[in-house]
Amino acid sequence: MDCPRDWPEPIVRVQSLTALPAIPDRYIKPPQDRPATDTPELTNINIPLINLSGLYAGDSALRATTLAQISEACREWGFFQVVDHGVSPGLMDQARDVWREFFHLPMEIKQGYANSPKTYEGYGSRLGVQKGAILDWSDYYFLHYLPGTLKDHKKWPEMPPSLRSVVEEYMDQLVKLSGRLMKAFSINLGLEEEYLQNAFGGEDIGACMRINFYPKCPQPDLTLGLSSHSDPGGLTLLLPDEHVAGLQVRRNNGWITVKPAPHAFIVNIGDQIQVLSNAIYKSVEHRVIVNSGKERTSLAFFYNPKSDLLIQPAKELVTPEVPALYSAMTFDEYRLFIRTRGPQGKSQVDSLKSPR
Ligand code: OGA
Ligand code: NI
Repeated sequence: MDCPRDWPEPIVRVQSLTALPAIPDRYIKPPQDRPATDTPELTNINIPLINLSGLYAGDSALRATTLAQISEACREWGFFQVVDHGVSPGLMDQARDVWREFFHLPMEIKQGYANSPKTYEGYGSRLGVQKGAILDWSDYYFLHYLPGTLKDHKKWPEMPPSLRSVVEEYMDQLVKLSGRLMKAFSINLGLEEEYLQNAFGGEDIGACMRINFYPKCPQPDLTLGLSSHSDPGGLTLLLPDEHVAGLQVRRNNGWITVKPAPHAFIVNIGDQIQVLSNAIYKSVEHRVIVNSGKERTSLAFFYNPKSDLLIQPAKELVTPEVPALYSAMTFDEYRLFIRTRGPQGKSQVDSLKSPR
């Protein structure tokens, strides 16, 4: 199976619809998926917040406490925020600012980067290629960073002029932060420190980013900025919009609206770590709601396995009591699902469950 060369319908930029009095029918979700009418919103709770400075400090008691906090957040939540993570706050602000500027450039310039479903690289306005699908209220930009053979600065916006160098530095720092989290996850799972990194292909991991732009929406109660999904890759580092809430995380039968801490990253477990950990860690469904007053920009950085390696439950975590829960698949094969069908909750990882 492969992705088609072209979108099934002409692409409409959501940015160009923001001044309409009503949203077009193709953005109207069925009643059960609309933000206001489905399960109740859980107020006054937030995902855990962890200070990572203890991971780097020489103090071994503090390091153990930090690892324990990460362990609990991975087991109980699958989603948490981190501060004091080592990435420069100024660089985080610059990264968000250059992308916000990009989305405000004239449409002719952005159209020069229009993407196709073949690689998804560039300026896009839908996930999935099913004709007649109900679409999400967002535009995005998708780019590759690792492996180096896939990175092509010419496919990154040339404007604003600092974008390429800022993105290069930002992604370099996020690769390093992800590597540290992979070590922490491995240790917490009782595996050798380099286990997950090696299972991902060592130096040959994949890293890419989707910058999501959620324009103002005249009827936010009828649609979603991004439909419920779990992230297909390894782990995600999300830089949310500090001023505009929108990300919701599934918790039991409700949704928690994440309240971002200043200069925090939101970390979440992707499907590949769910598979490798044999479901000790689970990817968690999340979605984005939009609003009529403010646009929102977020940067989702994805740390993924080398695309042609088979990913399967770690044999150290498979026991007679807990057999391997998932069958093996390469990430190349795995990610075709979301690329063809679009975001569909957790149906994909569930479909990997070994029959028994
Ligand atoms: C994603 C995602 C959340 C957000 O890009 O996979 O879940 O807040 N984004 O934009
Ligand atoms: Ni996501």
